Amino acid sequence: MTRYEIEHATSVFTGGGHELLTFKQHNTRWIKITNEDLGKLPGVGLATAAKLKDAGYDSMMSIAVASIGELEEASGLGSSPARKIINFARENLNMGFQSGIELLEKRKTVVRIPSGSEALDKLMGGGFETGCIVEAYGEFGSGKTQIAHLLCVMAQKIDPEAVAVYIDTENTFRPERIEQLAKGAGLDPKKVLQNIKVARAYNSDHQMLLAEKVGDLAKKENLKVTLVVVDSLTAHFRAEFIGRGTLSERQQKLNRHMHTLLKLADTQNACVFLTNQVMSTPDVFFGDPTRAIGGHIVAHASTFRIYLRKGKKGSRVAKLVDSPNLPDGEAAFYVRTEGFEDI
Ligand code: GTP
Ligand code: MG
Repeated sequence: MTRYEIEHATSVFTGGGHELLTFKQHNTRWIKITNEDLGKLPGVGLATAAKLKDAGYDSMMSIAVASIGELEEASGLGSSPARKIINFARENLNMGFQSGIELLEKRKTVVRIPSGSEALDKLMGGGFETGCIVEAYGEFGSGKTQIAHLLCVMAQKIDPEAVAVYIDTENTFRPERIEQLAKGAGLDPKKVLQNIKVARAYNSDHQMLLAEKVGDLAKKENLKVTLVVVDSLTAHFRAEFIGRGTLSERQQKLNRHMHTLLKLADTQNACVFLTNQVMSTPDVFFGDPTRAIGGHIVAHASTFRIYLRKGKKGSRVAKLVDSPNLPDGEAAFYVRTEGFEDI
């Protein structure tokens, strides 16, 4: 087989000349190499670059954060060259330190999606923040799915262009419920439903894949995704990994999933709203004997955590248990057909 590489077949300036794009030809295929790109990696020819691209490693960042094993598999390189390119990518990457001023500017782009309950919004510092993960855990019927539905509607109330992505693992997404809540919020139910993209996840791998694809979906269809719901985050993981022996494997997968979601929150400036079940821990004698599934991995990756429980006279009580900048506290509200009602 003859392989030939034309190193500088053509170069073009794009976007006002800011970025130099070089197209290189490998066999009959043209591969776009940008400044930031794989073409610079030592020992990576076009064939390997193409393989890496096909496997989803399309930027320096993706190489820098990859493990040696993953890259070996994707590129067909041995472990030593794989190590070399990872090190090169790490050294040559702008690792993304930002000054406090830049971060303060970025905070100004944060949007707060209201829930309709004043008490709950106040608890959350004015609503559910974009750019981070909010985890709601609680027993069955405590209102997790109701909050998820309501946020899908309210995201559009404050921004008609907003799109919500709903990853449904328990088959509990109900378009009829959205219709009711949209009417309650004074919105056109059809339009609201149009802007909610629902995907049913059949197992944990599928769920992880769907989360990874949200960025692509937004880019391809030019969607302004301000909310991503995963309802429920842990049900599949819990069902598929049973017993002590499989716990570390489960936690590893869950960890990867949480990182995908964290990245999604950051790159899309979306609020990632996760629901989580609780398990009862009978060995706890004082306080509430319920704990969220997923342990530290889910807890640490979530920016805000709320614990939901049923209160008096059919109300629901949300307790803020973890937040970087808000005091802990509680809010009570009723779930009504049209939305939430304060007490
Ligand atoms: P699991 O998914 O089973 O863990 O529970 P969850 O926390 O997701 O519960 P969910 O949010 O589905 O809450 C269900 C409860 O919301 C029901 O028991 C009702 O009390 C209430 N609810 C749901 N729909 C309506 C409605 O249209 N009108 C009123 N008034 N209440 C509703
Ligand atoms: Mg639910």
